[in-house]
Amino acid sequence: MKKNIVTIGGSTSKNSINKILAEYAGNLLQNSGFTKVDLNNFEMPLFSVDIENEEGFPKEATDLNAIIEQADGFIISLAEHNGAYSAAFKNVFDWLSRIEGKVWRNKPVLLLSTSPGARGGESVLNIALNRFPYMGGNIVGSMSFPSFFDNFKDKDIVNSDLKLRLANLVVEFEKAL
Ligand SMILES: Cc1cc2nc3c(=O)[nH]c(=O)nc-3n(C[C@H](O)[C@H](O)[C@H](O)COP(=O)(O)O)c2cc1C
Repeated sequence: MKKNIVTIGGSTSKNSINKILAEYAGNLLQNSGFTKVDLNNFEMPLFSVDIENEEGFPKEATDLNAIIEQADGFIISLAEHNGAYSAAFKNVFDWLSRIEGKVWRNKPVLLLSTSPGARGGESVLNIALNRFPYMGGNIVGSMSFPSFFDNFKDKDIVNSDLKLRLANLVVEFEKAL
C-alpha cells in the first residue's frame, strides 16, 4: 500500500517558508502520498499542567496525535525563533509529548529548517537533532536551507546544489520507509 507521509511546517505564519519547504519536499516523494499539516488548524491553549489536569487534552492535540499515529513518516521543517523552536511548534510538541512520549513513534523523519538568514535555522535544527531521537524520532536525514528568499523563487529551488541535496535526502528518506 502507498505510504502516507505527513509534512509539518513548524510555524503558524500564513506564508510560512518552512511549510513551503516541507511541502516542496513532500512533492518530491516518488511512491508515497503526503498529508499537509498546517499548525493553524491545530490551535490549542498554551500548555499547562493545570489545564491538562482540569480539562484533559485539547481535541486539536488528540486529532493531531491521531494523524501522527497513522503516518508512515514525517517531513518536518522548523522555523527558528531566537535560536529555538517557534512558540507555536513548541506548544504543540509539548501537548503531543503528554499524550505519547515517543511523539514520532520511531518512524522515519526528514528534518529540515529554513530562514531568510545564512544559517537557515541551523540552531533550531541542532536542537531538534539532539532532542527528537528521545521522542521517537528516527532521523534519516537533515538539512538547514539557507537564505530562503535567495535560493527559493517561483515555487522552486534556484540553487542547484541545494536542490540536489534535498532531492537526494528525499530519496534516502523514502528508502527508509
Ligand atoms: C520572534 C522572531 C525571532 C526570530 N529569530 C530568528 C533566529 O533566531 N534565527 C533566524 O534565522 N531567523 C529568525 N527569525 C526570522 C525567521 O526565520 C523568519 O521569520 C522565518 O520566516 C520564520 O519561518 P516561517 O516563515 O516558517 O514562520 C525570527 C523571527 C521572529 C518573528
